[in-house]
Amino acid sequence: MSVRLRNYQHPADFDHVGQFLVDTYQPGYRHDNWLQPRWEYMHYHPELDKLGKSALAKIGVWESDGEIVAVVHFEHRMGEVYFQIHPDFAYLKHEMLEYAETHLSAEVDGGQQHLNVFVNDFDTEFESIVRSRGYRRVEDISDCWSVFEITHPFQPINLPDGFRLQSLEDENDLWKLSRVVHRGFNHPGEPPQDWLIQREKMQSAPNYRKDLNIVTVAPNGSYASYCGMWHDTANRVAIVEPVCTDPDYRRIGVGTAVVLEGIRRCGQEGATVAFVGSEQPFYLSMGFRKLFGINLWTRKWEA
Ligand SMILES: CC(C)(COP(=O)(O)OP(=O)(O)OC[C@H]1O[C@@H](n2cnc3c(N)ncnc32)[C@H](O)[C@@H]1OP(=O)(O)O)[C@@H](O)C(=O)NCCC(=O)NCCS
Repeated sequence: MSVRLRNYQHPADFDHVGQFLVDTYQPGYRHDNWLQPRWEYMHYHPELDKLGKSALAKIGVWESDGEIVAVVHFEHRMGEVYFQIHPDFAYLKHEMLEYAETHLSAEVDGGQQHLNVFVNDFDTEFESIVRSRGYRRVEDISDCWSVFEITHPFQPINLPDGFRLQSLEDENDLWKLSRVVHRGFNHPGEPPQDWLIQREKMQSAPNYRKDLNIVTVAPNGSYASYCGMWHDTANRVAIVEPVCTDPDYRRIGVGTAVVLEGIRRCGQEGATVAFVGSEQPFYLSMGFRKLFGINLWTRKWEA
């Protein structure tokens, strides 16, 4: 099998890589690769505009017989990379790391180059590779995945009096949505006008589902909490991203309610599990349990 390295071509490759992620999803709670919605979320997230669309061409794609078998890429910033690999092509890791150092590293103070690499904590082979290349583990930064098993009948979803659940299909008020996201992620004041344009852009992602984007509406009509939900129907997997509650309405259960409502809807469509990239007590308290961690490894070198 001849394997060929080439640059990612956007938008032509967008769906192909997405399909590669769907195809390489591994049930059994050890998904090495990103779940497809994260790939989509990355492309439609406003942070990508700061990097510039031309940066996408630096992403490395490996193909075998015309099929994608590996991808190394950033998410929102240069110098921080993720590896997506078909299990039969794990031997490419070393080559992919070298590629990332050359094309996806970033300059730090003093003219040095640096690269941060995310490695699943169960991937001891990859840990050995990065360690032997001079990377050290950053102890206080890590990522993770947690899982929620969907049961039937679904657990009760409780709301405080006067609040109600609905989806953006019922009402898609971009101002209210911008406000709950802005305030919910602890930004001071009111959202700038361009946040509305950013929400529109995010909603234009091909698999964005307004009926799976849930809000709780407060008695005064504002959105008290918000949960974005994605459903990979091929793998019957729901993915939670993002979630926030306006600081005026925290610790009254509306964050839990939006997440559970989104998961419940995916469950009705056939999803068996929901994943979230977090182990916050908030998620654990509603029934998620941590699956595995993703450690950050870093290296600096003279350019
Ligand atoms: C995390 C967040 C969504 C929680 O929203 P919320 O509406 O306040 O959550 P709930 O009221 O449903 O909380 C349910 C339970 O989760 C746990 N919980 C919620 N917030 C918590 C916190 N800050 N610290 C510890 N436990 C917390 C508690 O067990 C809580 O039950 P309790 O209030 O009876 O103790 C909200 O704090 C937020 O928007 N934070 C900023 C954005 C963010 O971190 N989003 C999640 C990651 S994408």
